[in-house]
Amino acid sequence: MRHWIFASMLILGGANLALAGEAPAKAQACVACHGQTGVSSSPEFPNLAGQHAAYLAIQITAFRDGTRNNPAMAPFVAGLSDADIAALAAYYSTQARATAADGDPALVSRGENLSGPCKACHGMAGVPVANEWPILAGQQAAYLQKQLAAYKGGERSNPLMQVAIAHLGDREYAALAAYYSQLAR
Ligand code: HEC
Ligand code: HEC
Repeated sequence: MRHWIFASMLILGGANLALAGEAPAKAQACVACHGQTGVSSSPEFPNLAGQHAAYLAIQITAFRDGTRNNPAMAPFVAGLSDADIAALAAYYSTQARATAADGDPALVSRGENLSGPCKACHGMAGVPVANEWPILAGQQAAYLQKQLAAYKGGERSNPLMQVAIAHLGDREYAALAAYYSQLAR
């Protein structure tokens, strides 16, 4: 329910931002890790550029409200209002996506073979239809791998994901991360 409220807010917020196209002032707090336009400065930090706006808003809200925990992120989002979050999500979602990096070919091919069950939700090439779900194509491999392990270990919680990756382990996560990160978006 909350997700749908956010999605509607984004549609309203997006109408203003489409005219501006400039980074909201609050984005200055994100530059050090996520880059000027949402292309991150380290493989440990996710790219935000070109990600689905509704997904971004849900995740920023989760960090703010403590339902998704990360000590690096928490202080930067603690003071954001819902309107700030909608503006940041709309801004990053309209920035040019990162160029996909090449991965180790053997790992990429293994990841591709494992990716069948992921396609139902994350799309044929890592771009899901639902705006609330993350685009994986072109995302930083180290970041993706860490998220899969976090769902498995329970540090990040989502019932759909926990079921989808429960039977897999670290080697599979590395392969899936390598595969998705090199897909062009
Ligand atoms: C000190 C570095 C740092 C700063 C500054 C920072 N972040 Fe992050 N951000 C991270 C890290 C690290 C993660 C991955 C956290 C994890 O592993 O769960 C992250 C994750 C995210 C995600 C989740 C992306 C996804 O694909 O799920 C969003 C959205 C995000 N940050 C937005 C922001 C915004 C907006 C700001 C500024 C208001 C910001 N971040 C400032 C380090 C930072
Ligand atoms: C039933 C639908 C579903 C399936 C199947 C599924 N996912 Fe997901 N996935 C989601 C949803 C929904 C989220 C966002 C969850 C959240 O809010 O934390 C997500 C999040 C992720 C993330 C975090 C991305 C980010 O930017 O932080 C990764 C990585 C991921 N999925 C990889 C996979 C892989 C690999 C598979 C196949 C082994 C898979 N997923 C199968 C629905 C699914």
